[in-house]
Amino acid sequence: MEGVKGKVVLVAGAATGLGAASAHRLARAGARVVVGDLDLPGAERTAAAVRDTGGQAVAAEFDISDDASVRELVGYAVRTYGGVDAVHVNAGDMGAVRHDTDVVDIDLAVWDRTLAVNLRGHMLVTRHTVPELLARGGGAIVYTSSIASFTGEPQRPAYAATKAGINALARHVASRWGREGIRANAVAPGLILTPAIQEGAPPEMLRNMLARTRSPRHGQEGDVAGMVAFLLSDEGAWINGQVINVDGGTVLR
Ligand SMILES: NC(=O)c1ccc[n+]([C@@H]2O[C@H](COP(=O)([O-])OP(=O)(O)OC[C@H]3O[C@@H](n4cnc5c(N)ncnc54)[C@H](O)[C@@H]3O)[C@@H](O)[C@H]2O)c1
Repeated sequence: MEGVKGKVVLVAGAATGLGAASAHRLARAGARVVVGDLDLPGAERTAAAVRDTGGQAVAAEFDISDDASVRELVGYAVRTYGGVDAVHVNAGDMGAVRHDTDVVDIDLAVWDRTLAVNLRGHMLVTRHTVPELLARGGGAIVYTSSIASFTGEPQRPAYAATKAGINALARHVASRWGREGIRANAVAPGLILTPAIQEGAPPEMLRNMLARTRSPRHGQEGDVAGMVAFLLSDEGAWINGQVINVDGGTVLR
């Protein structure tokens, strides 16, 4: 994908899973990647693996729920590569999801943590990167949403609310800064077989999720990474404010 070659791309939440896949995909296409994560050893592993395959990447520790930490991460990207052209905001607190029961039962600390990381954190990354994108004459942001923002489920109310909030955030950013050259979109994956999900998900759950798709197989990390790279690239120049499902046809809308 020629359209990200030479661009500086910050992937916020890229130690493992979808963010790490995105870092690899973007670097393969010639982007210079800043791998940010709460898990510094994981971020360093991702960046080292990118470099081992001939790509350019650096790692940095940050906490997406902390305003000063996010500001420092963006500053690090600017100091390292001279600016920021694109961002994949991906971090999610996947530990909290296990305790995200229903709104009567949920521990309010779980609700607050989920919103702090999955939604407020995505807003903080936006807040600190928009001025940098404007300084470059524009740029692109992609958020990782989820089909949970559309489907309605008996559990995971905090998770679903944050993902619906992310969809609104993308629409806001597109509406506020689109004419100044900033594009903001969200990808809404269905179940993606990351290594963690392959190890941890009960087989029955995997079977049920596959039955909800219109696909012969489960989602793979590369399915999402390909869409992220496209949306961040110049090829995606006329796509703004959209939420794009990458879910094997689970949700049709
Ligand atoms: N895997 C799926 O099936 C799937 C489906 C839909 C949406 N998603 C979304 O994709 C994103 C990535 O999920 P994943 O499955 O790859 O899980 P993952 O746990 O591998 O990735 C999440 C990353 O976010 C990081 N992170 C967590 N809290 C952080 C914080 N406070 N500050 C900075 N980084 C932090 C983690 O360390 C990790 O690297 C999440 O937003 C998730 O909601 C995943």
